[in-house]
Amino acid sequence: MNINQAIEQRHSCRAYTDKAVTTDQIKRILTTASQSPSGANTQPWQVAVVTGQTKLTLQDAIQQAFASRIKPNPDYPYYPTQWQAPYTLRRKQCGLQLYNSLAIKREDTAHRQAQWAANYRAFDAPVMLLFLMDDIMQTGSYLDYGMFLQSVMLSAMAEGLATCPQAALAEYPDIIRQTLNYPNSKQVLCGIALGYEDSQDPVNQYRTDRENTSQFTDFFD
Ligand SMILES: Cc1cc2nc3c(=O)[nH]c(=O)nc-3n(C[C@H](O)[C@H](O)[C@H](O)COP(=O)(O)O)c2cc1C
Repeated sequence: MNINQAIEQRHSCRAYTDKAVTTDQIKRILTTASQSPSGANTQPWQVAVVTGQTKLTLQDAIQQAFASRIKPNPDYPYYPTQWQAPYTLRRKQCGLQLYNSLAIKREDTAHRQAQWAANYRAFDAPVMLLFLMDDIMQTGSYLDYGMFLQSVMLSAMAEGLATCPQAALAEYPDIIRQTLNYPNSKQVLCGIALGYEDSQDPVNQYRTDRENTSQFTDFFD
């Protein structure tokens, strides 16, 4: 698989087999991803690899907060507060594809909520990666971090593994810091579910669209 194929074939995987991922595999992925560029080589990433009993403890705490309707309290705003075109439509389409793949109807709030809550278990992937950053870092470091995250996902493919990036895992950062013993100065940016894809599960059958290149590119000659 060359680089272009890896970029084109990566997709968000939301159902996993229970086949274990080894610590060596995770180390190789993170070592490769650490070659990502960052401004002044600041390397602002801090990764928590959460598996086994710690994953169960953490995901139970987050799921309980969600079930008790505790308001998410992310360390930074991921989405706009005022949505507008063309993003509104893309977001809607994203949700439609997901719920259609699972035959969950629009009005079926219970199933929609249950599907959303699966986020907090990293979709039952054996590995939940959490990505943190010191709160003194500025907006530029989010650019660096994005490159690192894509590198993690592509490097995982080289190990035969699937991923799903997850902003949902940053909704209750206090629980994460408390459970994993991180200081308040470590912002939680997002998570990535990591494991072997369950390629039979309906949720993994669809692929998302992209705009044509001409829609987002201006050539100046
Ligand atoms: C930073 C980031 C956060 C995301 N958060 C979530 C999430 O919380 N839950 C989820 O199911 N998908 C999440 N996604 C996945 C997007 O929905 C997905 O990337 C997009 O629909 C494109 O589909 P693809 O990844 O299959 O190409 C996230 C993606 C990114 C890049």
